Amino acid sequence: MTADPSAFDTARAVLEPAGTRVRDPISNKSVWLAGMLTDGRVEDNALKFNFEFTAQHSRDDRARMVEALTLNIREHGWPGEVVPNVLVEGVRRAATPASPRPAAAAPPKAPDPVRGMSGPGMQAHGGPITLQPIPGVKHLVAVASGKGGVGKSTVATNLAVSLAKLGYLVGLMDADIYGPSLPLMMHIKGKPMANAEKKVLPLMSYGVKCMSIGFMVDDAEPIIWRGPMVMGVVKQFLHDVAWAPLDYLIVDLPPGTGDAQLTMIQGAPIAGAVIVTTPQDIALLDAVRGLEMFKKLNVPILGVVENMSWMELPGGAGKIFPFGEGGGVRLAQRYETALLGQVPLDQAVREGGDEGSPASLEDGPIADVFLGLATAVNRALPV
Ligand SMILES: Nc1ncnc2c1ncn2[C@@H]1O[C@H](COP(=O)(O)OP(=O)(O)O)[C@@H](O)[C@H]1O
Ligand SMILES: [Mg+2]
Repeated sequence: MTADPSAFDTARAVLEPAGTRVRDPISNKSVWLAGMLTDGRVEDNALKFNFEFTAQHSRDDRARMVEALTLNIREHGWPGEVVPNVLVEGVRRAATPASPRPAAAAPPKAPDPVRGMSGPGMQAHGGPITLQPIPGVKHLVAVASGKGGVGKSTVATNLAVSLAKLGYLVGLMDADIYGPSLPLMMHIKGKPMANAEKKVLPLMSYGVKCMSIGFMVDDAEPIIWRGPMVMGVVKQFLHDVAWAPLDYLIVDLPPGTGDAQLTMIQGAPIAGAVIVTTPQDIALLDAVRGLEMFKKLNVPILGVVENMSWMELPGGAGKIFPFGEGGGVRLAQRYETALLGQVPLDQAVREGGDEGSPASLEDGPIADVFLGLATAVNRALPV
């Protein structure tokens, strides 16, 4: 077993996406989620891991699953040897009755909410990770949410635009490799070019330097990025883009707690995370997962933004709360963090997103909400 953290990361980066594609007929989950791939590591350019089966798996099952996994690992571009150590519960027990390892027949483990950091059954590497700062960028701010569709990209773009309106130098990085929305929301078409130092030049819109995978691929093209490639792209966006000088680099993270989030957190020092949620309980549960991930990795939480908090009825007839009331406040209280803002559900916000003209550009109550958010971020992270 090697202690090299990058060897662990490399193994996980290949095993997770490949294992996610192979179904276990017994638990009816992927072999990755069922926790059947353990002790992954890279040694002498060989990918080694345990493939743990229960007594219920027939010999045919095992052979088929090992083959399918190996094939997927190859498809993920793993160039070296693939060395699975096949363990079968009954056989292993018989052979090593005193084995201290837990029986592989244990019920499938529930997915760890922060599984991206240490895959099921896999050993997390210890020791501090050295974070490489981005020269000339004062504060890296991650905008995150537990699930999609809560308005994370909307908040990220409007926050960036509002900080720029306040006079700061701002960048916006779209780390959502699967569903980039920055080109549409910031009304950018075109491909970025590289400068003499081989750094990619971000594209400017509304005073914000922008970068998105959407600039590189066609709208119609399906983006089937694989785990390791996602990480590569996120790292490149952090370190190979000519961001400097910037006061704030706002990163629109994809939803969830997977590869891109982890790469981001380990890719550069994040000054703070902004958690976006809608008020209802189900969204809050997901937001909690995001919060826990950042906490566990020692990323400061700047606070919570509650989106779609209420709707103004036409003619000044009052407010309604289609997604419930007070969820953002409760979340902020529970985590002893700030409620940075509440954004109403408003047609202008949606249209602004779809038309590539963020609602915060137009002075008015919505712009004020986002200015308030920008001010809160600036207060937490002064430049
Ligand atoms: N406060 C809001 N009022 C109206 N529509 C909103 C609001 N926030 C987000 N939306 C819309 O909801 C959809 C999802 O938002 P988006 O920012 O893309 O979510 P995410 O990035 O979390 O997936 C978009 O069409 C967006 O315009
Ligand atoms: Mg989005």
